[in-house]
Amino acid sequence: MALPRTLSVIGAGQMGVGIALVASLRAQIPKVLLYDRDPAQITKGLAFMDKLLQKDVSKGKISEEQAKAAKERIISVSHSSATGESGWARELGERGTDMVVEAASERLSIKENIFQALTQNLSKDAVLASNTSSISITKLAGAAVDGLGASVSRASEEGKACAGRVVGVHFFNPVPVMKLCEVIPGLQTSDATLERARAFAVACGKEVTTSKDVPGFVSNALLMPFLNEAIMCLESGTATRDDIDKTLRLGMGHPMGPLQLADFIGLDTCLAIQETLYDGTRDSKYRPSVLLGRMVDAGWLGKKSGKGFYDY
Ligand code: CAA
Repeated sequence: MALPRTLSVIGAGQMGVGIALVASLRAQIPKVLLYDRDPAQITKGLAFMDKLLQKDVSKGKISEEQAKAAKERIISVSHSSATGESGWARELGERGTDMVVEAASERLSIKENIFQALTQNLSKDAVLASNTSSISITKLAGAAVDGLGASVSRASEEGKACAGRVVGVHFFNPVPVMKLCEVIPGLQTSDATLERARAFAVACGKEVTTSKDVPGFVSNALLMPFLNEAIMCLESGTATRDDIDKTLRLGMGHPMGPLQLADFIGLDTCLAIQETLYDGTRDSKYRPSVLLGRMVDAGWLGKKSGKGFYDY
């Protein structure tokens, strides 16, 4: 199965940067374009990649040459180098993108806008993948078709072909370390797209599982209620933060306690996923804890903001 020659990663947050790195270093994709609306985010992401590559060199895992080559394959596309509202998407198209992995914030409207811009500007063969951790792939495929204009219906041949190119590739944080990629076909995803997504994930060094397109897929339908229960334990005073985390680390062998893990993922991301689960199933077992919502209101987003259940 052919791997992409030019991959575009949209969003230079912790997930996007990790995906760009494994695509370049492990899968050796010849050109990896990294785009973010915020140029500062790209600068930060590239600096973090340098640090990871240098660590691998100093540990003897890769040579200086491999690190240099991996870095050279990654090209940043900043918002300022692209003109107009969807100039960034035009630039990704002009540079020959044949696969996209969207890793923007976990908000439906943000992702829908991105998918619409992508279908307007990319080749009609490009695979359009999302690293979403909970949002419906079928919904994103619908947005991609809408990008073709009002004259193309979702059920038309052109609409079906476009939706057939949309797929979920859900990586885990930290991407270079976690060995899994969950692949999610939407209702319209074609077999060829699914195979291209799987081949890409395997080339990035990942084991692949497949999940149906249900809210949260397999991974977050299991993980998020667990994290939420831990937050509710804290909220109800069942135990202290440290004892909740210690229980799971020392009693069950988890590498991180659930409150530390929630901080690590990002409390805003946890809340967004839990809201998708709750809204998408209307099942009360998925309702986000009040404390989680309040912490996000306060701007305490976990490790990335310097404060969450822990201080960083
Ligand atoms: N990026 C890249 N590499 C990282 C990293 C990061 N942010 N953080 C740690 N690492 C690497 C380290 O460099 C080190 O690599 P080497 O072995 O090559 O030196 C390795 O990971 C181990 O790191 P440490 O020794 O510093 O620390 P640790 O042993 O405590 O491990 C951890 C850190 C790997 C993060 C571990 O605590 C862990 O596995 N935690 C659980 C993570 C997890 O559950 N992730 C999934 C979250 S859910 C998700 O992502 C999906 C979603 O939809 C919400």
